[in-house]
Amino acid sequence: MKVLVTGAAGFIGHHLSKLLLKEGYQVIGIDNINDYYDPNLKLARLKDMNINIDQIAYNVPVEGDITFIKLDLTDKDEIRNLFETYRFLISSLSVRSSFTKVMSPSNGTLY
Ligand SMILES: NC(=O)c1ccc[n+]([C@@H]2O[C@H](COP(=O)([O-])OP(=O)(O)OC[C@H]3O[C@@H](n4cnc5c(N)ncnc54)[C@H](O)[C@@H]3O)[C@@H](O)[C@H]2O)c1
Repeated sequence: MKVLVTGAAGFIGHHLSKLLLKEGYQVIGIDNINDYYDPNLKLARLKDMNINIDQIAYNVPVEGDITFIKLDLTDKDEIRNLFETYRFLISSLSVRSSFTKVMSPSNGTLY
């Protein structure tokens, strides 16, 4: 089963992804790798999940232990495409501030 982890290159997203892998889930991780703190730390976490960081480009899936996609949660069109491409069991909402900008509870959709 596939699980979407948002902020997968972040502290919590990285640990959550590894835990989910250990539990046998397939993880699709997204992160915009912003520079709120040193992005090299985020890239190191992705490397730890066997993501080839040289292959990272916007909205291009990179296969490692997880499928990593550099994607901004506020990019509504591409997020919609993501949900049309993959069927997720559940998504981890580890980037709360961005989540509230793109997802409206009023649309009745549970992400
Ligand atoms: N670290 C903790 O101890 C802790 C404890 C309680 C709650 N939290 C909450 O959990 C969440 C994650 O915390 P963290 O420590 O992992 O933070 P983090 O900054 O290490 O990870 C967040 C990740 O989200 C990515 N991100 C941010 N905006 C994005 C966007 N628009 N699109 C895609 N990716 C985006 C960032 O690049 C980053 O890699 C936060 O909401 C934080 O408040 C953290």
